[in-house]
Amino acid sequence: MRSARPAPPAALLLPIDRGRDLPLYRQVYHGLRAAILGGGLAAGTPLPSSRALADELGVSRNTVVLAFDQLVAEGYLEGAPRSGTRVAPALPRRADTARHGPAAGSPGISARGRAIVAVPMPALARGGTVPRPFRVGVPALEEFPRALWARLTSRRWRRAPVLAYGDVSGYRPLREAIAAYVGAARGARCTPDQIIVVNGSQQGVDLAARILLDPGDTVWMEEPGYGGARIALLAGGAQPVPVPVDGDGLVVEAGRVLAGGARMAYVSPSHQFPLGVTMSAARRLELLRWAAGAGAWVLEDDYDSEFRYDARPLASLQGMDERGRVIYVGTFSKTLFPALRLGYLIVPDALVDAFRAARAAADRHSPVVDQAVLADFLTEGHFARHVRRMRRLYGERQDALVVAVRERLAGRLEAPARPAGMHLVGWLAPGEDDTAMAARAAEAGVETPPLSRYSVHRPSRGGLLLGWAGYTPQAIREGVDCLARALR
Ligand SMILES: Cc1ncc(COP(=O)(O)O)c(C=O)c1O
Repeated sequence: MRSARPAPPAALLLPIDRGRDLPLYRQVYHGLRAAILGGGLAAGTPLPSSRALADELGVSRNTVVLAFDQLVAEGYLEGAPRSGTRVAPALPRRADTARHGPAAGSPGISARGRAIVAVPMPALARGGTVPRPFRVGVPALEEFPRALWARLTSRRWRRAPVLAYGDVSGYRPLREAIAAYVGAARGARCTPDQIIVVNGSQQGVDLAARILLDPGDTVWMEEPGYGGARIALLAGGAQPVPVPVDGDGLVVEAGRVLAGGARMAYVSPSHQFPLGVTMSAARRLELLRWAAGAGAWVLEDDYDSEFRYDARPLASLQGMDERGRVIYVGTFSKTLFPALRLGYLIVPDALVDAFRAARAAADRHSPVVDQAVLADFLTEGHFARHVRRMRRLYGERQDALVVAVRERLAGRLEAPARPAGMHLVGWLAPGEDDTAMAARAAEAGVETPPLSRYSVHRPSRGGLLLGWAGYTPQAIREGVDCLARALR
C-alpha cells in the first residue's frame, strides 16, 4: 500500500546532455515528465526545491524554475505555497487518454512509450554515418578480416544450416566457445548454460532491466558513465542515481549514502567508461559485499577489456562473485565490429530461465547463421589472432595520438597515455567549457565528445574524449591539427 505522504526521491537523475541541441530547461522538463509518466515519480511525491535540484543537476535555478512552471501549467506538477512542488495527484488528461486513442497532437502512444521517447538518445544510438576522428568506441574496421569472414559465412551456408528457430539462449557451440574464452581470458566462472547470446550489450542491459527492476527502482550509475546503459535503464522505468568514480572506480560508500536502497549497480570495472580507471581489488570486494548484503545486483559491463597494453587485465567481477549477484555483459562490438550486433550475458544459474523468458518475449534469439560463423571464428583461432593484432596496432595508434597532442596542443589539452582501452580523455585547462570546445571542434570537422555529455553533474574539470583505435596514425595527426586550429 502506498503511504499517504510519499518521501522525496533520494536523488533525481535527469538525463541532461549539454551537447544536445535542446535547451536545458526542456531537457529538465522532459526528464521529469518521463519519470512521472513512467511511474518513477509517483502521484503526490514532493520534489526537491528548485535550488536543490539545480545544484544537483549543475544547471541554473532559472532552468529548473522554467521546467517546473511548464509542468505545473500542463498539470503534471502542482505547487503548494508552503510545502513546495509535488507531482499532481492525477495525471493530466493528455497522458491517460493516450491508451484509449490519440489525443489532439498525440500519435496515440502509451504512457510507457512517451517515457521512452522522452529519454535523450546518446550520439552513439544515432549511427549510420562513417566514423571520423575522434569518435569513441570505434575499432579499426578497415583491419577486420572481411575475406575470411565471408569465407566462413559461405562455408556455413554451403553446409545447409538449420533454418528453423534456434535456441533462445543462443547457438550452443557459440555458447561453449564463449564460456571457454571468458573463463580463460576474463577469469569468469560459468557453464555454457549460463550464457545468453544477445544483440550487443545494449540488449543485455535492456533484458536485465526488464527482469530485475521495477519502475522507480534506483540503480547506481557511474558518474561520469555510459549513456547507452543509462538510456536502457531509464527506458525500463528505473531511476539511475549518479555515483562518483575516483581512481579506484565507483565509490561504493558514496552509493550507500546517495541511494542505499538501490536494486542494482551498473559498473565498467576493467576500464571505466569514459574515465578509463580500473576498479581496484578492494573496491570490487566492497561492491560485492554491498550487493550480497543489500540483495542488489551488479551489472558488469566488460566492453573493451581485451585491449590492455601493459599487463594482463584484472579478472572480471563475475569471477570473484561467490553469491550469484553479478550479471556480466560482454560484446563483440569492440573486438570485431559493432554492426555485428552480437554480445552475451553471463547470468547466475537461478536467473537463466527468467532471462530466457524475457528474450523469448522480446525477439526470440539472435540470427543463427551469424552466431555459427562467430563460433567458427572463435574456435578456429581467428578471434585470438585478430585481437592480438589489434592490441599491437592500437598501442601504436595511441602513441601517435599522445605524441601529436603533446606537439600540437601543449598547454591546451593534456592527454597522457593510458594502459588500456580505445580512447582517452584530453583534459582542458581548469574552468574551460568542454561543450563549447567540442562544438568548435565539430565545426572544424573533428568529433570529440565533451566529458560533460556523460555526466549528470557538471564535471569538476572539462575534457574531450578522443577515440584513437579506429583511425590511422595519419588520420589521427590530421585530426589533431584540425583540433589545434579549432581550440586556438
Ligand atoms: C561502456 C560501453 N559498453 C558497451 C558498449 C557496446 O555496446 P553494444 O555491445 O551494444 O554495441 C560500448 C560502446 O561504445 C560502451 O562504450
